[in-house]
Amino acid sequence: MIHTPALIVHGGAWDILDEAVEDHKRGCSNAVAAGWRVLAAGGSALDAVTAAVVVMEDDPTFDAGRGSFLNADAEVELDASIMRGSDLKAGAVAAVRRLRHPIQLARLVMEGSEHVLLVGRGAEKFASSRGIKFCRTRDLLVGRELQRYQALRSRKDFHVREVFEKQPRGTVGAVAFDNSGSLAAATSTGGTPQKMPGRVGDSPIIGAGTFADNESGAALSTGWGESILRVLLAKTACDFLKEHNDANRAAKEAIQVLEKRVAGKGGVILIDRFGGVGLAFNTPRMAYALRQGEKIFKIGI
Ligand code: GLY
Repeated sequence: MIHTPALIVHGGAWDILDEAVEDHKRGCSNAVAAGWRVLAAGGSALDAVTAAVVVMEDDPTFDAGRGSFLNADAEVELDASIMRGSDLKAGAVAAVRRLRHPIQLARLVMEGSEHVLLVGRGAEKFASSRGIKFCRTRDLLVGRELQRYQALRSRKDFHVREVFEKQPRGTVGAVAFDNSGSLAAATSTGGTPQKMPGRVGDSPIIGAGTFADNESGAALSTGWGESILRVLLAKTACDFLKEHNDANRAAKEAIQVLEKRVAGKGGVILIDRFGGVGLAFNTPRMAYALRQGEKIFKIGI
C-alpha cells in the first residue's frame, strides 16, 4: 500500500521576536522543501528528516550547528539524535564540538556502531575515524551569539528559564512519514546559553527529545531541556497517541504534562502512524512548517 507522505519541522519554541519571524519562516520552509524532495522521490522518512535538519543546521537563524549558543566557557557544544520507527533503531551524540552537522554523526552512530549515544571526546574520535571533517568553533559562531555571551556572562541573576520566555531562537527538528508508512524523527541543538560545559539537554536523549515508533507515532520536543527530560516529553506524546490516535490532542496533552508536572516550557511536533500531523507549545511562539501530500503546506509561528 502506498501512503501519502507527511513532514513537519520546527525551528524552536521561544518568544520569537517580531524582527526574527521572517527568518524563522524562511528557514522552516527551506527545511520542509529539502525533506519533501526526498519524500516526493519515494525516499525514506529517515533520509527526509536528515536532509531537513542539515538545512537548519546550516541556517544561522537557529540554535543548531552554525548559530548555536555559546556555553559558559565560550565553546559551542552540540547535541543531536535520530530515530527510525520501523525497528526502533536510534543514534545520538552529545556535547560534540567543531561539527557543522551533528545530525550526520548521530545517524552514523545509529548505522555504523553498536551504540545509541556517544558523548564528547569519544563521539569526536568516532567522527574522525569515519572521515567526518571538523570545522573551527568560529565557523559555528555568529556575532549575535558572541554579544549574547558577553551580556549574560556579567549577569548574576540570569536563569535559563527566561530564555524560553524572553529571547528568540531554538533547537531544530523534523518528523516524517514516508510512502511505505514508516516514521522517523531527528533533532539537533546547541543547547542553552551559558550552559555548563558538559551539560546535556533533552535533544540527544531518546524518549525525551526524540522518539519514533511505527506502532504509535514519532515526536520531537523543543524548549527547556531540563524540564523536558523529566517527563520524557517525546515518548509521552507518542503514548497519548496510543490512547486516541489524535495527533493534535496528543501533542496538547503532552504539553499539559510538561506544564503541570514540572512547570516546563516548550513544544512538541508529531506524526501519528497514519500520517496525521500535530503540534502544541506553551511558549509564546514556536516556528514550524508542515506538508501533507500535494495539497497541504503550512508555515506557522
Ligand atoms: N531543548 C534543547 C535543550 O534544552 O538543550
